[in-house]
Amino acid sequence: MDDDQIREFSEKMSERIASLEDRNDKLLETARRVEGEKRYAETELVRLQKEIRRLKQELDRLKSPPLIIGNIRDILADSRVVVKSSTGPDFIVNAAEYITKENLVVGARVALNKQTLAVMGVLPPSLDPIVTGAEIIEKPPVSYEDVGGLEGQMRELREAVEDPLLKPELYRKVGIEPPKGVLLVGPPGTGKTLLAKAVANRTQATFIRFVGSELVQKYIGEGARLVRELFQLAREKAPSIVFIDELDSVGAKRLEVATSGDREVQRTLMQLLAELDGFNPLGEVKIIGATNRPDILDEALLRPGRFDRIIEIPMPGVESRMTIFKIHTRKMNVAADVEFAGLASKSDGATGADIHAICTEAGMFAIREDREVVSMADFERAVDKVLGDNPIRSADSSGAMYA
Ligand SMILES: Nc1ncnc2c1ncn2[C@@H]1O[C@H](COP(=O)(O)OP(=O)(O)OP(=O)(O)O)[C@@H](O)[C@H]1O
Ligand SMILES: [Mg+2]
Repeated sequence: MDDDQIREFSEKMSERIASLEDRNDKLLETARRVEGEKRYAETELVRLQKEIRRLKQELDRLKSPPLIIGNIRDILADSRVVVKSSTGPDFIVNAAEYITKENLVVGARVALNKQTLAVMGVLPPSLDPIVTGAEIIEKPPVSYEDVGGLEGQMRELREAVEDPLLKPELYRKVGIEPPKGVLLVGPPGTGKTLLAKAVANRTQATFIRFVGSELVQKYIGEGARLVRELFQLAREKAPSIVFIDELDSVGAKRLEVATSGDREVQRTLMQLLAELDGFNPLGEVKIIGATNRPDILDEALLRPGRFDRIIEIPMPGVESRMTIFKIHTRKMNVAADVEFAGLASKSDGATGADIHAICTEAGMFAIREDREVVSMADFERAVDKVLGDNPIRSADSSGAMYA
């Protein structure tokens, strides 16, 4: 072999080596890719198996036979139970072992197997949607600062309602029972509902609000059932405050002569009385009632032990009227010459609601004249407009009933 041949040979060899290395790189690359694909397929397999399991479970769930709703009538000594189902007669059945014995009580709502009527589970008691809707979850945007001139009443209300709920040990130490129910009475528009809203906003307790007329129902016994469920909810959510606005719509005096509608209202009232008596006063439920017709309330509602604290919400005096004017003009663009003391003394006999109306009217006068600032003259005209010779108002000579 001469030199030429050797060079040629080694060149060929290095070319071959290069091409083999190249090929090797490519194969390595492919191997990596296939490896990755395999891993992906494996995880996909696991995922799909999970999905199959879930769908099978869902299918089983959907195919499971329906359960019948029933009520427990009695618990027998051998721990079997007597149930009443919607199908008619009462049955003696067994209960599933996983149900805790404490939950199996007479009256409980239970789910029953369709074939054997065995008790499969205990359901929570049912509450009417009207009742569950009465719980105030969002706090009303009214704070104590928004209530003018009722400091004394406000303190009394909080003492009677919030303190027993939040500091029960205080009452226990002194040895007295805190009042159970508080009744707010006063002429229309003096701030009774407003005060209750402020309490609802402030309190840590559950606030349940009801308007008396909502308790008056079409069918016999429905109103009483609502009252019962309402207090049941209150006890479940304790500590809680039940506020019954416009109490006179259920709490009116019971008369001898009555239509069947009146009798239904009376049944509702009697259930209310029973509930007021029913729970222990240090219990965690407090009641606030509000009415502008205390004169027509049934005496039974007002006797000690029921609505035993009566808080009178009077017509606002001059000082209070000034505060209320300030409250309602807080967000208004008021001219520098507006003088609230003068307005307060001018608006004799106005309620808080009237003052609110006066402020709105004054603003309307300014808008009508294309001004952005409300002047004293606007307020004076508004006072005349709202409190002026109104035949409806003067007939009532507002607040005489409360004198
Ligand atoms: N003391 C007050 N301070 C501030 N605003 C008041 C006051 N009293 C009444 N208002 C105003 O009047 C409005 C109506 O008051 P509210 O609804 O509390 O009257 P009420 O006493 O419940 O009347 P009714 O007996 O007719 O139900 C309130 O929204 C508020 O704007
Ligand atoms: Mg009201």
